[in-house]
Amino acid sequence: MSNIVELDATRGTRFEFWARRKEKPEAERTGGEVFTLRAGERIVYRIAALPPSFQFYAYTHHAGGPLTLEWDENIIEMSLFYRFDPAQVAEEGVTFLELQGGRLVARPKETWRAWYESDPDRPQLRFSPFQAWMNDPNGLCFVDGRYHLFYQFHPVDAEWGPMHWGHAVSDDLYRWTHLPVFLQPEQNLWSLRATGGAFSGSAFVGPDGGLNFYYTERLPAYDLFKDYKEVQKRVVPSKDLLRPEANRLVLIDGPPGSAHDFRDPKVWYDAARGVYRMVLGAAIDGDPSVLLYGSEDGVDWKYLSVLYRAPEHYRQHGARCVECPDFFELEGRFVIVMGFVGYTDPETGRHNLLYAQVGEFEDDRFTPLTPALQELDFGTDFYAMQSFRAKERQIAVAWLFNWEFRKPAGSPYSGELSLPRVLGLDAQLRLTMLPEEGYRALRSHALTQATRGHFVCEPGQPIELSLAGTLDGIRIVGRGGDGESFTIAHVSGRLQVRVAEDTGEIEYRSTPLVLENLTLFFDRGVLEIFANDGVVCGTRRTYKIATLTSLELASSDIESCEAWSYNSVWRD
Ligand code: FRU
Repeated sequence: MSNIVELDATRGTRFEFWARRKEKPEAERTGGEVFTLRAGERIVYRIAALPPSFQFYAYTHHAGGPLTLEWDENIIEMSLFYRFDPAQVAEEGVTFLELQGGRLVARPKETWRAWYESDPDRPQLRFSPFQAWMNDPNGLCFVDGRYHLFYQFHPVDAEWGPMHWGHAVSDDLYRWTHLPVFLQPEQNLWSLRATGGAFSGSAFVGPDGGLNFYYTERLPAYDLFKDYKEVQKRVVPSKDLLRPEANRLVLIDGPPGSAHDFRDPKVWYDAARGVYRMVLGAAIDGDPSVLLYGSEDGVDWKYLSVLYRAPEHYRQHGARCVECPDFFELEGRFVIVMGFVGYTDPETGRHNLLYAQVGEFEDDRFTPLTPALQELDFGTDFYAMQSFRAKERQIAVAWLFNWEFRKPAGSPYSGELSLPRVLGLDAQLRLTMLPEEGYRALRSHALTQATRGHFVCEPGQPIELSLAGTLDGIRIVGRGGDGESFTIAHVSGRLQVRVAEDTGEIEYRSTPLVLENLTLFFDRGVLEIFANDGVVCGTRRTYKIATLTSLELASSDIESCEAWSYNSVWRD
């Protein structure tokens, strides 16, 4: 049976959606339209027949004016559906649409707050996609006074699949506006029953001030762990950054010793030498490695060397390759950041850890200045970190996930980003991470202690707790409305965290430290811990505590202690 609604659309309005034929159409076709748009009597867009696999569709209403949409809900299965006016979208964002019970439900930006708040498991201080699956942050950049976030996105459901680049924009790194999907796979991977697509990559501002993106395309892949091909591409975006204007293959083959893992380019320009450089994640003869490439023009790339090769230990404990390498200058030094996918730490059982090493970079050689790799997050739900330079700061965000625990089925989305963090170096050349200061403006009010060391939290609202003093031996317990709890404790000189999912098989603990200060944020299941001015960080995502009712501290020597309740970033 057909449903009909009237729509109004300004000149240039664009509709984009992903749809397929329902597996078992619930009723006989009654001669209704699968999906038709009419301007007056004239059909301006019609899907004659839908394929059984998802497919991308788009219509631009160049003429403007009223439209009639007719569709048959028994036949069409829509996943993501939105409309936007390209001239206004940078401010207004897209309007998400849903065909539901014969109606067209529109969700413009003014309604996002209610959408985000109504999901009890949805963090309120952090970015998450409106719906569907998200993983790594990509293409981070600061253009014309605004921050752009691109991210690994699977638009058709809340599971990982053929990769696209989602896109959002922000003035402050906390409040985001959703924009249209930016990149798509080279071909329809759903119909091939393959994975792959537009994998991770980064933004790069060239010597001429022009913005480019470099990213990996995983060509249609039929095995998740081997025998795939990854190539590197360069995208020149349209002026408004809404779509790729040119997309060019720039690098096909890895060096001898490398195999199928060859991805996640990060590019920079060496102004002193007038050359381009790129790092890529790979494995050399099975050892996780960061590869260095060079170019005179940003298009023609040549292999230079292995910038970093992980000691044997990592391969022996399951590490398959480096993912999402980052390489940047910070306070006169150079920092490598990388994830070892597949790795299991034999002492604690934690997986896929993220590491940093600080050194010098001269004549294309990286010389470490610290003896060992620095573990970047003892909680492990902080992966695929990407950093970029803006307003003279190196800012990083990461994906709050580690594959160990999954979001319970039935949620309209999966995947969140960490708080934006500002990177620094301490006196021992360790990388430090602290939340970008914009979080202070999001505080709603201070929380007072009900009794000594006991804070009552506001249901569903994010909370920050900051402590300083002699904190060795401290224990902090967060209790949820449903009887579940988490514990952060300083035990035998190490910080450890335990959430309701933990059975004890994996130990989430830091390297040894004398604990001098600690700030923690809890936000509907996300726990981010910053200790000793950001030298030690721990991030956990629990799906068992959405609402925190209380925080209890046990310690003898707290010099200062403050707690804040937060507003949602999705507020107008
Ligand atoms: C890291 C990663 C990247 C890859 C992307 C694919 O999480 O595996 O190496 O480019 O995700 O979605």
